[in-house]
Amino acid sequence: MRAQIEHHNHLYYVLDAPQITDGEYDALMRQLQALEAEHPELVSPESPTQRVGAAPVQAFGTVTHAVPMLSLGNAFSEEDVLAFAQRVAETLRRAGMLDEQDEPDYFCEPKLDGLAVSLRYEDGRLAQAATRGDGATGEDITSNIRTIKSIPLVLRGPAPRVLEVRGEVFMNRAEFEKLNDAQRERGEKIFVNPRNAAAGSLRQLDPRITARRPLRFFAYGWGVVQDLPAQEPGQFSEALPGTRATAALPRESHGGMLAWLHELGLPVNRQHNALVRGAAGLLDYYARIGQARRGLPYDIDGVVYKLDGLAAQKVLGFVSRSPRFAVAHKFPAEEATTVLQAIEVQVGRTGAITPVARLEPVFVGGVTVTNATLHNEDEILRKDVRIGDTVIVRRAGDVIPEVVGPVLEKRPAGAGLFRMLAHCPVCESAIERPEGEAVSRCTGGLFCAAQRKQSLLHAAGRKALDIEGLGEKLVDQLVDSGRVKSLADLFTLTADELAGYERMGRKSAENLVAALDKARRPTLGRLLFALGIRHVGETTARDTARHFGSLEKIMQASEQEMLAVPDVGPVVAGSLHRFFQEPHNREIVAALLEQGVAPQAEAAAQGSSLAGKTLVLTGTLPTWTREQATRHIMDAGGKVSGSVSRKTAYLVAGEEAGSKLTKAQELGVPVLDEDGLKQLLGLD
Ligand code: IVH
Repeated sequence: MRAQIEHHNHLYYVLDAPQITDGEYDALMRQLQALEAEHPELVSPESPTQRVGAAPVQAFGTVTHAVPMLSLGNAFSEEDVLAFAQRVAETLRRAGMLDEQDEPDYFCEPKLDGLAVSLRYEDGRLAQAATRGDGATGEDITSNIRTIKSIPLVLRGPAPRVLEVRGEVFMNRAEFEKLNDAQRERGEKIFVNPRNAAAGSLRQLDPRITARRPLRFFAYGWGVVQDLPAQEPGQFSEALPGTRATAALPRESHGGMLAWLHELGLPVNRQHNALVRGAAGLLDYYARIGQARRGLPYDIDGVVYKLDGLAAQKVLGFVSRSPRFAVAHKFPAEEATTVLQAIEVQVGRTGAITPVARLEPVFVGGVTVTNATLHNEDEILRKDVRIGDTVIVRRAGDVIPEVVGPVLEKRPAGAGLFRMLAHCPVCESAIERPEGEAVSRCTGGLFCAAQRKQSLLHAAGRKALDIEGLGEKLVDQLVDSGRVKSLADLFTLTADELAGYERMGRKSAENLVAALDKARRPTLGRLLFALGIRHVGETTARDTARHFGSLEKIMQASEQEMLAVPDVGPVVAGSLHRFFQEPHNREIVAALLEQGVAPQAEAAAQGSSLAGKTLVLTGTLPTWTREQATRHIMDAGGKVSGSVSRKTAYLVAGEEAGSKLTKAQELGVPVLDEDGLKQLLGLD
């Protein structure tokens, strides 16, 4: 049973190809536990049941690394990488190991954002595990490492006398979130990011706590290897498109060594490691992994390039404490620390009050950040962020920067607590927070200039009336001067008067008037969405428009009749109905019609190619962004969902498609590429 359970661990963690469900796995574990309880004399230290954690220790012992654990030099730019590749190639040419016109092979790996550890196997059994420490000595964390299911307690096949495996312990983002949810429920410490959670878990003196943490491991190197067995060449990776996956010998190449570690039962990042040639290959790999980054289940902070040939590595040698044959090419940091100078509030379109952090400017994720969202009052309390704190700021991709949490060690005495304002800073109406809701709201409605401005910007947005050229600066002036009080007033603007506003030339004024003219013919759904009715998103607006067919019918519909719209429930129906009962809103609609706004019938859902069908997008499409693809699908009456199920009509898969593609194939859901989608939409 032990072998059977370890076999399933291996399938799951190392081969990424489980054959049984989590439930079945748990049942096997329970059976083994029962057997061992009946026969305690048969329990062995390598039994999977022994991974739940040994007794706590007072302090960790010290381990001296037989081969030091080095660090890597960093490259932050393309020039740095080219300089590295040039140094390597020149050295190899001088040593007569590379022809003039040739370039060397490099093994490339994602740089996992976790903690480096060294695992010592003796005669195939996990004997000791240590942290990196200062590179020469680390801490003995054997009991904690033994709880990590992806780390084999016993190696498979013929093992060397001594083998030190080097690699990274880390946590997947989703599992980290789940852990934090559980911590929150129990009133325990919340971790700021997966790396900190992994570090905290490994530093636990009580391995039983470590055992409950979702730690994972990938091997990327080795220390002592005593007696490498004669070895068949192995496949070191599932070649990424455009890279190679040739057979390699462990004694000859880095890739070969990793293939061998994989065969011994250690998890290796086969999905994203790759062999490339020359500087161009390195930069291409960097770009690919950069693209794939957000879809990866774990955090990475760059990629690592390693000269593949082991003999060639020897020629390059080391400088102080890092190898000359390898380099870490870092992504622009997505997290940085800075000082939270103040917390101000912003008033949104529906009056929602969002606390915003004013920060000492900090360079993160490739841009300088001075503001970050704090979401709401409860979030500030939950994260225990105070004014004057040094905070961790995160900016991933193009999402709004956010404050992750405080660095408690740096909290100054008297750091200020945030208190929600009683009155709106813009219109001075009361701020209220309804029972059971997280969000506080300004009660000023369209009396509040902030809400008016946001409503106008919403209506002008790409998904609504799509009025190009109506930006924040102009809306500020139009509202502050009292010239525009409602959406309808926009349509009374002339080029002459617009040209008189700040930062508006004659040409842009004329362009805006033309854009407004175009906006007089929106589809009914877009107009409905532009009105900014609570709970009425783009899809609901479109469905409602399709269902009723005209603005008059929508305005006359009872709440009961609204419920007949697909996917509209009582909350949305109530909101829609109330909106059109409000005399003020009816006036705005009437004024819009008076200004020549004439909604066009929504493209019929029936008969259109994707009516009522749900599609799922995955990976990167060659020419369309995800937003564009979504828009086209919705325009054809389809829906886009985030997860694949039996009800999915098509999966549209681009490059780097991952688990969704596998799932679609399992469920027999048809898979299209971008061209296929275009054909379906009649756009080819
Ligand atoms: S190789 C001789 N490969 O990055 C250098 N390191 O800056 C041995 N890391 O301490 C390291 N992913 O914690 C290597 N694929 C990878 C890595 C990796 C993450 C970390 C590791 C190391 C640090 C070096």
